[in-house]
Amino acid sequence: MQKKEIYLITGGLGFIGSNLIRLITNNNSESTIINFDKNTYAGNKDNLKNLIHKNYYFVKGDIKNKKKLYKILLEYKPDYIINLAAETHVDKSINNANEFINTNVNGTYQLLEALKDYQKSIKKKFKVIHVSTDEVYGSLRRNEELFSEQNKYLPNSPYAATKASSDLLVRAYVKTYDLPICITNCSNNYGPYQHPEKLIPVVISSCQNKKSIPVYGNGMQIRDWLHVDDHCEALLLILKNGRIGESYNIGGGNEINNLKLIKLICKIMDKIKPAHIKYQTLIKHVKDRPAHDYRYAINFNKLRSELKWSPLVNFEKGIYDTVLWYNKNQSWVNQIKKRKSYKEWDLTNYKNRGSIK
Ligand code: NAD
Ligand code: DAU
Repeated sequence: MQKKEIYLITGGLGFIGSNLIRLITNNNSESTIINFDKNTYAGNKDNLKNLIHKNYYFVKGDIKNKKKLYKILLEYKPDYIINLAAETHVDKSINNANEFINTNVNGTYQLLEALKDYQKSIKKKFKVIHVSTDEVYGSLRRNEELFSEQNKYLPNSPYAATKASSDLLVRAYVKTYDLPICITNCSNNYGPYQHPEKLIPVVISSCQNKKSIPVYGNGMQIRDWLHVDDHCEALLLILKNGRIGESYNIGGGNEINNLKLIKLICKIMDKIKPAHIKYQTLIKHVKDRPAHDYRYAINFNKLRSELKWSPLVNFEKGIYDTVLWYNKNQSWVNQIKKRKSYKEWDLTNYKNRGSIK
């Protein structure tokens, strides 16, 4: 018989959160899921439109609201909590870091306070994952050793600094108050339902609309891409078997520079949506991101050896399927692009990147 596990997911209307909720419901029809999300510009109820699950509950709420979080904890008494709620776009954080400080730092603090009170008042066992990023480690040089859990925190963007701050708060609350939390630091995710502000959806959408594909700087920056399904599997494994107080790196072992990735996507588009031009001709080098990290690459030996996790999705196949998904679901992207929040950001970003090299 399947166990009736209760999950509280914060940020479940976003890219990773919505994929995670789909995975949990597919794995276990008896589980209860509470999706606690503020539904910011990055949240999207359409991401879970097709979800059919008898015990799924959406609660509109802000992780900065400790009182509401505490009430939800008492009401549902979750076994597992996964904190994904955050402001996540590096370019936006460079433009204005205010909401990043509010949600990523203060929001995490309020969540920790709610958990502390909950732990005191209810003796029920629970476990928490605080989902973080590889960007806390800063940037690697070309031949430098991959990021391991022992690397120093050296964040370079306001986004990364707020995520690093939240990780340090979590660490302090684990040490001081014995809160049962693991931290995960993951590399770049790709897959369905990623907000169209991020690189891969930007490239696909630019091809579809025959618009310039903006490459920041020389495009030689390297990212280590991981399919979102692999990330979600890792989170569930760490939730069940990870050691409390530990950090786990999660990565794909797929280092590729931005220009190569963009050309790969263009080639897939040439195949599945032939046009009178080769999509690569749309590539335009634009003003670089300030303090643009050169390289991220993850050593996930700890996760591999302790919990027997390794990524399952083949990179070429994963990217191909992702491009197909965005072609089949153009209306999903268009809905987001119609929003005022998207139009405003598009204009700001265009101004920031304005000068075409
Ligand atoms: P996303 O931007 O797609 O979604 C974030 C979600 O959080 C949205 O649904 C939004 O409404 C919600 N949210 C924002 N502020 C909130 C608040 N104050 N209270 C409640 N909900 C709030 O982000 P994502 O890409 O799904 O990332 C999820 C988490 O994973 C983040 O913590 C991010 O730092 C981390 N992460 C992402 C990646 C990646 O490549 N996408 C890689 C490593 C780590
Ligand atoms: O590494 C994990 C991080 O990955 C997560 O913590 C972040 O939440 C997530 O947004 C992502 O951050 P990046 O900055 O790496 O992702 P983004 O898609 O914004 O950019 C990927 C690379 O592509 C980066 O080097 C900047 C570049 N880029 C991005 C965009 C949007 C371009 O060249 N052109 C673009 O239009």
